[in-house]
Amino acid sequence: MTDIFDAIQRTAKRIKKAIDVKDIGYSQQSNSSGETQLQLDIQCDMIIEEEFSQVPSIHTIASEEKENAMLLNEAGKYFIAYDPLDGSSLVDVNLSVGSIFGIYEGEFAADKMVASCYVVFGPRVEMVFAHNKTKLHLLQGDEFEFVKEIRLKEKGNLNAPGGTQQNWAPYHKEMVDGFFKEGYRLRYSGGMVPDLHQILLKGGGLFSYPGTSDKPDGKLRKLFEVFPFAFAYKTAGGEAIDGKVDLMELGCAHIHDTSACFFGSKYEIARVKEVYAANA
Ligand code: F6P
Repeated sequence: MTDIFDAIQRTAKRIKKAIDVKDIGYSQQSNSSGETQLQLDIQCDMIIEEEFSQVPSIHTIASEEKENAMLLNEAGKYFIAYDPLDGSSLVDVNLSVGSIFGIYEGEFAADKMVASCYVVFGPRVEMVFAHNKTKLHLLQGDEFEFVKEIRLKEKGNLNAPGGTQQNWAPYHKEMVDGFFKEGYRLRYSGGMVPDLHQILLKGGGLFSYPGTSDKPDGKLRKLFEVFPFAFAYKTAGGEAIDGKVDLMELGCAHIHDTSACFFGSKYEIARVKEVYAANA
């Protein structure tokens, strides 16, 4: 696992440099969700592929930017699913973005996840690695330094509601409004990595991306986005559900499958469960 952790650190330093270059254009290609890919997305994908190709313990990689999984080493045991630069269009408006990695053993399945990692590219570069604990690291000069273990409180005070409100179910809107009435504050940038990172570092709250009338299975991808954050939140003492079921108990039929998802501390997730049990 150390070789993977080191490879992710190398990708983070190279991606940081790629983000800092001002040439940000669109390519002629589109990704599996039909979005036109930014040159930067493709570049970050290549950086990760290059670095992972040099790690013998990695069997197969799957990228948000690639249609199919790619075999690297027949003898390796780890399967890594990654989103090279989540929220990449936010680079244009100078907001934070991030890379997400789900590390699976033997196959791409939630119950085979052994670790997850994400990197936040903001005013600083931070990396959170979840294995037995969820740990924060900060890039200082050319090295990542361990900062602290992250633990969520029982209840937080931030609310990050994703998706287009017009397409929310009425009971979902009522639940989101209910948190605001209780004093929760809105914190939503449109970048999953910084939005979930903020809730983790500030002790707790709720990030939700529900199933909506236009996207009944939500928008966020299970292997690259949902499972890695579910693993990090649960390891930090929080919870992660699809409304009813623990996200880490979900199956995944295709590498680009999506799921509704709710990440938070225990108090907020208990509320989501109550509301969804009564309505959905
Ligand atoms: O994966 C795509 C993404 O940009 C996430 O980073 C983010 O949480 C989400 O989409 C935002 O979607 P919406 O604009 O629908 O709330």
